[in-house]
Amino acid sequence: MERHAEKGPESDLLEARNITKYFGAITALDRVNFHLRRGEVLGVVGDNGAGKSTLMKILSGLYAPSEGEIIFDGKPVRFSSPRDAHKAGIEMVYQDLALAGNMTIYENIYLGREPGSRMLGLSIVDQKLSRTKAQEHLDRLKINVKSVDQNAEELSGGQQQAVAIARATAFDARVVIMDEPTAALAIKEVGKVLDLIKGLKDHGVGIILISHRMDDVFYVCDRVMALFHGRNFADAPLRNTNRNEVIGWIMGTKGHDQAVAHDQVR
Ligand SMILES: Nc1ncnc2c1ncn2[C@@H]1O[C@H](COP(=O)(O)OP(=O)(O)OP(=O)(O)O)[C@@H](O)[C@H]1O
Ligand SMILES: [Mg+2]
Repeated sequence: MERHAEKGPESDLLEARNITKYFGAITALDRVNFHLRRGEVLGVVGDNGAGKSTLMKILSGLYAPSEGEIIFDGKPVRFSSPRDAHKAGIEMVYQDLALAGNMTIYENIYLGREPGSRMLGLSIVDQKLSRTKAQEHLDRLKINVKSVDQNAEELSGGQQQAVAIARATAFDARVVIMDEPTAALAIKEVGKVLDLIKGLKDHGVGIILISHRMDDVFYVCDRVMALFHGRNFADAPLRNTNRNEVIGWIMGTKGHDQAVAHDQVR
């Protein structure tokens, strides 16, 4: 009953039904269902090759699904590029960041999307406005950098991740997908990125966090879903599960099988 009340009248912000993805002879995803609510932080877990990144690349417009449909804000959508998804407010932060090291922080945030005007088909970049807006946005997210004129390559891993998140949220994102955002970070930087995620959640942004780190999942997520061999395997609010159970899901074990499996993990 409690669970029902909590679900409330709100529909899902993003939903995917029966998503199948073939890469040649490989079935990377097999009739996967997915949903995300407003302001929800969803952890997505699964072993290497389970299909996590593929599913997220479909939701963010990089890949088209072979079968299945995506519903955003109650309407069926078909994204044919990340630009389409971006227009709808869905952003993905890739694991390899894709910041341009030899460009400044503000250029990275607005890369190719700078505020400015268009004249005779050419866009006129307003550098001053870009810098001010970038600084304001970083301030809003409580991201500290010396100056927005600093080159991205001078930043620590955590700062780079923060700038990548700033880039993803610079244009009223409604869904932010993060693929292993803390995998390459030192411990003290991990906390900052996770707190950034909490801040976005407080602004009503729906967040999908792919992570192999149980500490991250249990610190920041509201719900966790597991994929196994390209299929839905488990899905539960965080308070109804625990680390050992989730580790079991990653290995494809549930219930009775788990006692055995846990002897094999720390
Ligand atoms: N572009 C591609 N071309 C061919 N096969 C692919 C492609 N992308 C993914 N695959 C295959 O699809 C399956 C799912 O891969 P995916 O990258 O989604 O896994 P993952 O869950 O993100 O794994 P990891 O935890 O290692 O990042 C794998 O078998 C992978 O080899
Ligand atoms: Mg992946």
